[in-house]
Amino acid sequence: MTNPTGSLTNHTSPTHRTGTTAATVTGLMSDIAHLGTDPIRGGYTRPVYSTAELDLRSWFIDQATQRGLAVETDRNGAIWAWWDTPGKDRANALVTGSHLDSVPGGGPFDGPLGVASALVAVDILKARGTNPTRPLAVVVFPEEEGSRFGVACLGSRLMTGAIDPDKARNLRDPDGNTFADIAKANGLDPRYVGRDEELLGNIGAFVELHVEQGRGLIDLNQPIAIASSILGHGRWKLSINGQGNHAGTTLMADRHDPMVAASRTVVAIRDTARKQPQARATVGRLQPVPGGTNVIASRVDFWLDVRHPDDAITAAVVEAIHAQAQLIAAEEGCTVTLSEESLSPTVHFDPGLQKQLQLALPEAPILDTGAGHDAGVLSPYVQTAMVFVRNPSGISHSPEEHVVDEDAEIGAQALADALASLLD
Ligand code: GLV
Ligand code: MN
Ligand code: MN
Repeated sequence: MTNPTGSLTNHTSPTHRTGTTAATVTGLMSDIAHLGTDPIRGGYTRPVYSTAELDLRSWFIDQATQRGLAVETDRNGAIWAWWDTPGKDRANALVTGSHLDSVPGGGPFDGPLGVASALVAVDILKARGTNPTRPLAVVVFPEEEGSRFGVACLGSRLMTGAIDPDKARNLRDPDGNTFADIAKANGLDPRYVGRDEELLGNIGAFVELHVEQGRGLIDLNQPIAIASSILGHGRWKLSINGQGNHAGTTLMADRHDPMVAASRTVVAIRDTARKQPQARATVGRLQPVPGGTNVIASRVDFWLDVRHPDDAITAAVVEAIHAQAQLIAAEEGCTVTLSEESLSPTVHFDPGLQKQLQLALPEAPILDTGAGHDAGVLSPYVQTAMVFVRNPSGISHSPEEHVVDEDAEIGAQALADALASLLD
């Protein structure tokens, strides 16, 4: 996708859509419903640069091209579909979009809803005869979930310089491939990943539509909301080292079993988080090494996700967890290490942009969220805002995540109204 100087690669010459039927969000979502289904976990597994995610990228490029947008992939692997103004000056661009990758066994809407809604919003604006006075782009960020390389929002972190490119290049997926190798295999030049001053400087505002990932809109009985803030959150890796041994010949008294220490630590994590109102702490991934039914593990790696509105409290919770883990590991004859993999401070979205969205969407309530987003990573650098669409299950990162058809179309209309108000 990048040429040897690391600059943008054009995918297409824009060709204008000739069809007259307006696309719907539901229609676009059903076009991609077969991509990345997971027969084992249920739901969707669409890690970045997997076949499923690459198919989704191709679908997006095709959809954007049909709409006459100029499609380019940047040097960090984000795809940009531009509705250019005459002269193609891209300064002060209005950007919308989201991501196409998923967590393992995730729902269909986390990410793709924002992309499909952005495409439909472009259709709505075109049908209204809009002549943008500033460039409008639909973006697809890669590796938002961090489910392959461990760092959430890797694409937007690279673009903004929020992650050191060397650290990113050396991240490994569960099969041991580095990000540099996978980026290269997918047409990027890993030497050129990192902060993109020009692209970042051209973004005037970013508005991301996303499925709501909790019960806020159910409780408010509203189809859409405008975001106020994102809970601060981070990821840490814990490794407990013990003595690998035989399950049959090693007496219980003689063991240094890191699985026992890890299990006790998981309970301590829950108990530590419960002491802090509003704190959330999760262990969703645990890996015994070598991993055999009749093998006492020599090491257990597990990953901790901690969230709290006050970043100092997040740090204190992690410190308390580390201290607990050290005590438990010592009691089990093991040792433990803890390392930070990523940290995203609490984000309060731009009040001016939020106000503009409130004027465009007067019925929409204001809602905060506990989920992370590329809009949060971008917010220290550009004006950002988010629109949430009701999720009647209140469940996300699970196949039960849902959006009803009517709300999906209301969301796209709202996004179009919000964008129109920012194009005036
Ligand atoms: C992403 O959805 C996250 O909040 O981890
Ligand atoms: Mn998401
Ligand atoms: Mn997610």
